Amino acid sequence: MTIRLGGIIVGLGLTAVLVLWSLVPGLVNFAIPEKPDYYAFQEENIAPEGGFSFEGAAGTWDYAQLQRGYQVYKEVCSSCHSLKFVAFRNLQELGYSEEEVRAEAASWSLPGVDQKDGSVIDRPGLPTDYFPAPYANDVEARAFNNNAVPPDLSLMTKARKDGTHYVYSLMLGYGEPDPADQALSPEFETPEGLYFNEHFYNINIAMPPQLNEGVVTYANGPEATAEQMSADIAAFLTWTAEPSLVHRKQIGWFVILFLIFASGLAYLSYKQIWAGVKPKKE
Ligand code: HEC
Repeated sequence: MTIRLGGIIVGLGLTAVLVLWSLVPGLVNFAIPEKPDYYAFQEENIAPEGGFSFEGAAGTWDYAQLQRGYQVYKEVCSSCHSLKFVAFRNLQELGYSEEEVRAEAASWSLPGVDQKDGSVIDRPGLPTDYFPAPYANDVEARAFNNNAVPPDLSLMTKARKDGTHYVYSLMLGYGEPDPADQALSPEFETPEGLYFNEHFYNINIAMPPQLNEGVVTYANGPEATAEQMSADIAAFLTWTAEPSLVHRKQIGWFVILFLIFASGLAYLSYKQIWAGVKPKKE
């Protein structure tokens, strides 16, 4: 008897420790503001007007937007950032035909092998190739970027909190420090070669501003304003990080409907099985 009681007490104790362990860090995070005072410059993420088409439970891709985002990646970001988990053939999911994908792949140049002497030469890309890296290695990347390595962008929207909005905000976050905030952190400055960006965790970022109005020209589509291009690249990078996002949501609806149906069946069979056994309440 005492052993059983002891067991219960030990069990309860352990459960209490586990419950506290799981709750306390969350409470502490909740109670302490996320950003330290000296980062008064840090701003919350912003979203494009009207949001993104793929948000919400019934979201869908806007293929025209994804294609524009790809154009922004190709013409602007790809000179510094790789996209190593995406293959050219994946572009077919954005609504390009097989022919178009082949032509698109061929417009990129990748390292190949000269069949005569084995030296490294440039060759046109094939649909089966993955997007090539702009730099041979991190040392070269640092040499060109003020000692910072431009990270791979394939999974970027997953690697940052609220990633889609973060990429959108980061693109638009350049500018000058607000004088009121500067007064709060008088010692803050942006060193030579870095840029002030109110959405970067470190405020000073090694990436120069990218999406100035008109750096790309959309063949047929909206005007290439900074906001438009930022929304397009954020959408494109959301797709590269989770191509199955929309499919996942659709499956979710199906699963919920199926579970409702299965619950109905279970209830009916319960009624049937117990129909003769349970005494009717008078
Ligand atoms: C001239 C080179 C260059 C170009 C072009 C460029 N970037 Fe960058 N990017 C960088 C560097 C360098 C960093 C690392 C910054 C740092 O660590 O301070 C970076 C970092 C980033 C980050 C990560 C920020 C973080 O939270 O760590 C994102 C996202 C990003 N770039 C997106 C883009 C997008 C989108 C484009 C195209 C519109 C682009 N970049 C074009 C150089 C570039």
